Amino acid sequence: MTTTAPQYSEPPVGTDAEAIDVHAIRADFPILRQTVNGKPLIYMDNTATTQKPQAVIDALSDFYATRNANVHRGVHHLSVQATQAYEQARLKVRDFLGASRVEEIVYVRGTTEAINLVAQTYGRANIHAGDEVVISTMEHHSNIVPWQILCQQQGATLRVVPINDAGEFLFDEYEKLLGPRTKLVAVTHVSNAMGTVNPVERIIQRAHACGARVLIDGAQAVPHMKVDVRALDCDFYAFSGHKVFGPTGVGVLYGKFDVLDAMPPYQSGGDMIQTVSFEKTTYNDLPARFEAGTPNIAASIGLGAAIDYVTAIGLDRIARYERGLLHYTTEALSRIPEVRMIGTAADKASVVSFVVDGVHPHDVGTILDSEFGIAVRAGHHCAMPLMKRFNVPATVRASMAFYNTREEIDALAGAVKRVVEVFG
Ligand code: ALA
Repeated sequence: MTTTAPQYSEPPVGTDAEAIDVHAIRADFPILRQTVNGKPLIYMDNTATTQKPQAVIDALSDFYATRNANVHRGVHHLSVQATQAYEQARLKVRDFLGASRVEEIVYVRGTTEAINLVAQTYGRANIHAGDEVVISTMEHHSNIVPWQILCQQQGATLRVVPINDAGEFLFDEYEKLLGPRTKLVAVTHVSNAMGTVNPVERIIQRAHACGARVLIDGAQAVPHMKVDVRALDCDFYAFSGHKVFGPTGVGVLYGKFDVLDAMPPYQSGGDMIQTVSFEKTTYNDLPARFEAGTPNIAASIGLGAAIDYVTAIGLDRIARYERGLLHYTTEALSRIPEVRMIGTAADKASVVSFVVDGVHPHDVGTILDSEFGIAVRAGHHCAMPLMKRFNVPATVRASMAFYNTREEIDALAGAVKRVVEVFG
């Protein structure tokens, strides 16, 4: 990592009192201390998964070392302790999202499972032949394929909102697609492949005006900004623990109480039932009705620790700091003539996707890793229709979190220049 002064201008990021002490924060993340291929690790693949602060690692190991037991099933001491910790973490999620009731918070494996759950429960019960589901061109495959499958099952139609050359949602086109047949709108809050922040509040209002429900894929929003599901008024909101500095294997589906309560169950088995006989089964109350089987207890508790961690820093401070990183990265890479940005929306999270003339994105990613110790993602980012829209097979994507520094961005820009010199 270079130690030279940053080379590019910085936008105002608030007062000193609001500034992030990035070096103190980095000390909380043990993985960032290592070297990769002989260089200090520069981790810029936060959109794929984020690194974990010591507090999250400790929460996981503390659970297994001192409180491990199954939840909701035992009268013994450890089971009571495990259940309390698991349910306390759910309260943290409720507050993190601004939900009004803890019953509205369903633990799932991740955003993908949350969307599949809604498609196969709400969707199958409410979307029928001739109905329409609206998504956008920039969706992750996990917010495309579940709706495609649902539409095939039900004889419904999938409609797709186009985007402009900057990678922005075309609101006028969206309005044209809405109508009496629209039953559900499912859009991402922040594009994983480009960082575009969508105007979800307006999208939701407009969908509600024509009687449609709205699911927001929040996987890439919650690590970067404060989200308030009540202010948004979305019907469903989904995110993954591992994208917000928590463990893998846990995620959250938020649903408005009345909407969730009217939905048929998803998976079935233990914990989601009230009574079972061979003649008839009755189902549990929310949220247990949607949590069949032993859940990922440790990961849920770890997610609670991650929420505590980001809340203590402050999502607004994180957003301000990352706006600075985004601006700095965009400026640094734009100075390299061979670099073309994919996704230049006016409102973006700290995700920068680009292609380099004459060098395949996979080669760029491999060289950044092997020669410079820089971890980025190169590929289609689980968004093949978006790649097609931009007529590229893949992009290189640098995605920053609040532990990234301007020095790391200088190193990224220097490495990309070197790739151009040697391979371009
Ligand atoms: N959704 C993750 C990404 O964008 C895997 O990389």
